[in-house]
Amino acid sequence: MAIQYVNEVELDGKNVIARFDFNVPLTKTSPYEIIDTTRIDLALETIQYILDQGAKKLVLMSHLGRPQGQFKEEYSLEPIASYLAEKLKTEVLLTESCTDHGIKTLLNLPNPRVILLQNLRFHKEETANDHEFAKTLSQYGDIYVNDAFGTAHRKHASTYEINSFFKKNACAGFLLKKEMNALDQVVNNPKTPFVAIVGGAKVSDKIKIIERLLPQVNHLIIGGAMAYPFLKAKGINVGASLCRDEDVALARSILKQRTSKKIILPIDHLCAMDPNNPNIMTTKDAHIDDGMMALDIGPQTISEFAYILKDAKTVLWNGPMGFFEKEDFSKGTFAIAHLLAELKDCFTLVGGGDSVNAVNQSGKAQAMSHVSTGGGASLEYIEQGTLPGIQALKFGIN
Ligand code: 3PG
Repeated sequence: MAIQYVNEVELDGKNVIARFDFNVPLTKTSPYEIIDTTRIDLALETIQYILDQGAKKLVLMSHLGRPQGQFKEEYSLEPIASYLAEKLKTEVLLTESCTDHGIKTLLNLPNPRVILLQNLRFHKEETANDHEFAKTLSQYGDIYVNDAFGTAHRKHASTYEINSFFKKNACAGFLLKKEMNALDQVVNNPKTPFVAIVGGAKVSDKIKIIERLLPQVNHLIIGGAMAYPFLKAKGINVGASLCRDEDVALARSILKQRTSKKIILPIDHLCAMDPNNPNIMTTKDAHIDDGMMALDIGPQTISEFAYILKDAKTVLWNGPMGFFEKEDFSKGTFAIAHLLAELKDCFTLVGGGDSVNAVNQSGKAQAMSHVSTGGGASLEYIEQGTLPGIQALKFGIN
């Protein structure tokens, strides 16, 4: 069964309940303010479409953070309700709780048309994928729309179990469709040369994606803290750089595979005794002196990566090349963003929370073919070709 999309469903006069991923970064202290609105902005197309099609009521739902089943003010959707009201130029009523008894009464009143349920994760039943909780949510809509790509890898009540109450009345929103199309282009049909760039901290988090990609790519560039276990596994001294024994063992097993000749590792680094030490050194080759910590890729590595990337027709980038949050160590990561932005006739897909932040900070996000709103979700989609939230939409569940 194929997925049904929101533009294939009759919405006029219907109550629509829609799941989005409004899990956006907020300031740490009250008044809580949204730091990056990207996820909400990218949901607006589906929201506006539902309203334009004449839906009677639109009930929006999302999680925010990980409040562990309890009300916590710092995870209230209040700032999201205000931002949505401003963008949609309409009243957006935030309910006290997503299981509020008053919600059903609201559905029978002429106004407001847009209702935002308070954070789903204030109830532990959400992450427990609880059937009764999903049933309560399902009673707020005739049609269920899932546009929460960033959460589609979670088997939760509002993304998974809720589908059992909609069957033919469940559909995907435009963002989910866009994300799947972009990822499918990379997973199923990449134009070659296909180069993957994998960075970030732990090999164990990315091992599956590396194994999944190695047979398919022409080159697999490994940078950032991911690179040090690989260098150590090759017998290169990594000094005091981040390097867990289990990651070295995983790197060693990957390097034994025939396809590992496609792996490209840094050939020099920016190092310091620790991230706050002002004395920064550039190594002359891949070796890192004892007591020194590598915190970014070096200039020779940037040139080497640029050479490999220059002819690429598909690039997948997940994970930064160094400790880019600190300006001194951001050159490598931002250089990748600039290199990708300059590629002609190349499909560039950036996925994963940190690399998305990096590409946004570099000012080059607009130049990418697709910047995914899903961190864990985009990785799991690449590994498995689908996600639980998508499967439930596709096949329904019993
Ligand atoms: C994310 O930010 O990756 C999604 O919103 C999922 O959040 P979670 O990792 O807390 O489930």
